[in-house]
Amino acid sequence: MARLRLKDLRPGARLPVPLYDDQERLLLNAGIVLSRRNLDRLLARGVSHVRVDQRHAEQLTNDGKAARARRQQLSNDAARSEPQESFGGRTFPIDAFIHQVKRSRGRVPSVDVEQQFDQTIRAAEANVKLLFAEIGASAKIPGAKVKDITVETAEQLAADLDLFMRLGINVDHSDSSAYMHGVRVARLAMSAGTIAGLTRDRLLGLGMGCLIADAGMAAIDRSIYNLPRRLTRSEFLEITKHPGRTFDMLTKVPEIPPDARTVAYQIHERWDGSGYPRQRRGVQIHPLARLAMVADVFVALVSPRPHRAAYSAYDAIRIVLTETSQGRFDPASVRTVLETISLFPIGSIVSLNTGQVGRVVSTNLQDYTRPIIEPFLRGSRDWSGQPIDLLKDQDLRILSAHASLDDALEAISNSPGFEEALASEFD
Ligand SMILES: [Fe+2]
Repeated sequence: MARLRLKDLRPGARLPVPLYDDQERLLLNAGIVLSRRNLDRLLARGVSHVRVDQRHAEQLTNDGKAARARRQQLSNDAARSEPQESFGGRTFPIDAFIHQVKRSRGRVPSVDVEQQFDQTIRAAEANVKLLFAEIGASAKIPGAKVKDITVETAEQLAADLDLFMRLGINVDHSDSSAYMHGVRVARLAMSAGTIAGLTRDRLLGLGMGCLIADAGMAAIDRSIYNLPRRLTRSEFLEITKHPGRTFDMLTKVPEIPPDARTVAYQIHERWDGSGYPRQRRGVQIHPLARLAMVADVFVALVSPRPHRAAYSAYDAIRIVLTETSQGRFDPASVRTVLETISLFPIGSIVSLNTGQVGRVVSTNLQDYTRPIIEPFLRGSRDWSGQPIDLLKDQDLRILSAHASLDDALEAISNSPGFEEALASEFD
């Protein structure tokens, strides 16, 4: 997002994208013409600066010198940020966190490294458990601790995004306690935010918001949440109060940035206005919250609930895609989350058109239906250790995802690829 002075905006320009204030509140919708009256009204409301999508900043200002400087800056940035092959050949803003992120793409150097990584991830979870116990006991949010935990999460993510997702997100979801839900949503949202090109600050705000979004739930009888049946209207109304409670708890915490507060407050809104607490819709919802809600729903689906078993990641994605086609989620945010976890998330067991079985070890940003897989060698009953990039080997194709290795080995699947049916939903 670019920050522009209100007085630099060019009257008469039609907004190609929405205009936000510094708190990311919507000021003017896309399509509106910047009239003098509009600008005067904003000024009267005390707005001195606006935020707008970087790519459209220049066409909205009449400051030639500033525009030239920005153009120069952009071309300098482009020169400095060499496209990274590992990130799909895309370019990202120079300040995007993704430039600090490494990917092993399934090539884990040694068992030791993986074990160490696993230990730091579990230690972080133990910290979050303590954090939630503290919030439950004091009804206060220790901001510095929330921030420390999130900074550490960003460091783990940067050390190896693939290992981070395999050990931190695609793990056994049998523990569906509030703190583990927050941890997983934060990890998935931060991974997706990284791939969306967010800056470190934005990413931390997103992560903190996801981590403690349910802090306000402590004030609500949690037994309601775990009832093994559909909620009654009054029980549901009780649940809808928790984002507001979290927001109130957070306003008194200086370490928590406005991004995090907004994410926690809006994570249960929906793109079509069917969410809560305010029934906001579309671009009225903060961009980070739109990403967070997809991560939140995905993690909820792959976690068991008292009234249902956990869905497989593959089925969870299908549900999210169906709901997206019904308007419930922002398609751009869904696409980002999908690019992050891929249609076949890291750790998935898949069968190929060649009759081979493999496990997904890394995703490919260019095509979420063609991840990198490691084949299973039936002869030696072991993983081959030789990853195959399905993007490079176009003769290979995933036919099906399976619940387990045994299922995959047993199945002789002749079903047509789901990927074509699902990919076409976005076209
Ligand atoms: Fe919640």
